[in-house]
Amino acid sequence: MARAPGLSVRLKLTLSYAGFLMLAGALLLGAVWLFLLRYVPDRLMIVPGSTGGEITGPFPIRSNLLQVFAPRAAAVLGILLIVGLLGGWILAGRMLAPLTRITEATRLTESGSLSHRIELSGPSDEFRELADAFDAMLARLEAHDAEQQRFAANASHELRTPLAITKTLLDVARNNPDRDDGDLVERLRAVNARAIDLTEALLLLSRADQRSFPRERVDLSLLAEEAVETLLPLAEKRGVSIETAGDVSFTCGSQALLLQLTTNLVHNAIVHNLPANGTVWITTRADRDRTVLTVENTGERLGPRVVSTLTEPFQRGTERVHSDHGGVGLGLAIVKSITQAHDGILTLTPRLTETGGLRITVDLPAAH
Ligand SMILES: Nc1ncnc2c1ncn2[C@@H]1O[C@H](COP(=O)(O)OP(=O)(O)O)[C@@H](O)[C@H]1O
Ligand SMILES: [Mg+2]
Repeated sequence: MARAPGLSVRLKLTLSYAGFLMLAGALLLGAVWLFLLRYVPDRLMIVPGSTGGEITGPFPIRSNLLQVFAPRAAAVLGILLIVGLLGGWILAGRMLAPLTRITEATRLTESGSLSHRIELSGPSDEFRELADAFDAMLARLEAHDAEQQRFAANASHELRTPLAITKTLLDVARNNPDRDDGDLVERLRAVNARAIDLTEALLLLSRADQRSFPRERVDLSLLAEEAVETLLPLAEKRGVSIETAGDVSFTCGSQALLLQLTTNLVHNAIVHNLPANGTVWITTRADRDRTVLTVENTGERLGPRVVSTLTEPFQRGTERVHSDHGGVGLGLAIVKSITQAHDGILTLTPRLTETGGLRITVDLPAAH
């Protein structure tokens, strides 16, 4: 935005310093002058003592005094003006030096460099606080930027995979005159379904990230029941038993997104469970101001290091990237995004018992 040119802050500060110094000097000189007026008589008569002689005078003292005082006072004021302007210019320059560095850093950021830092040294003051806050903001932006780039690279890679598989299947089929078309169609259909799942997961993730959804009162225990009902056939197929417990627990948010969150958690708890005799526990709990959903399951034993990375997009624990579990690696990333969009806290804790597994809690604000 174009703005009319104005005085620089340095010049304004200099003028104020000099102005104040002049004002203080003038006041002091005025006080001295008043004092002189009060205690120095207007005229002076010289009366001879006992030795005799004539009375001389009157001598005009005040007007003489004024003649002597005025030019000196003017000289003092002149010196004060020079000292004020010079000192003010130097002092203001020193005080504003950090601002120049902050402005330079802002310009660099504007031109696209996020790796630059101000790193202002010295004791803590207002400028130091501003510079530190700016550095912290840059660090956050840089991390976010790197995360976005990683995400875009991973997403492109994941989206390319089904296309590449499709191409291979078609190439093989073209070069093989006695192919089984039924088998080919079946395999193409599976690959296509996976690509659709992945695209839908990506769309869902961006929808949750945008936070633009209508909010209503939602009962998490009902959502948990619904998710269990949908996934029960899968659990039976894998020999996993599901136990649900808990109170009616209301929170405020999007019914569809919270159902997706619950379904993702229960789905993970079933598919990343023990090969046989696995268990899933689902509980909902309502406090005065928090509503907590907990999904816990038996499974492989996980270290805390691995667990801390699982919510990143396309991170898949210890299993092979394309295992038969069929997830696209976005399940927990979506859970995290939906939780954050609802101002909640997602916690993953490895279960340290013999039967291993994971315990995930989603802590959301309660709605009354
Ligand atoms: N309930 C769970 N128990 C054990 N491991 C889990 C659980 N949920 C997720 N994981 C691990 O976290 C990884 C990421 O999960 P997710 O984002 O849903 O991707 P996906 O399920 O598609 O692999 C999984 O590959 C799995 O290793
Ligand atoms: Mg999953």
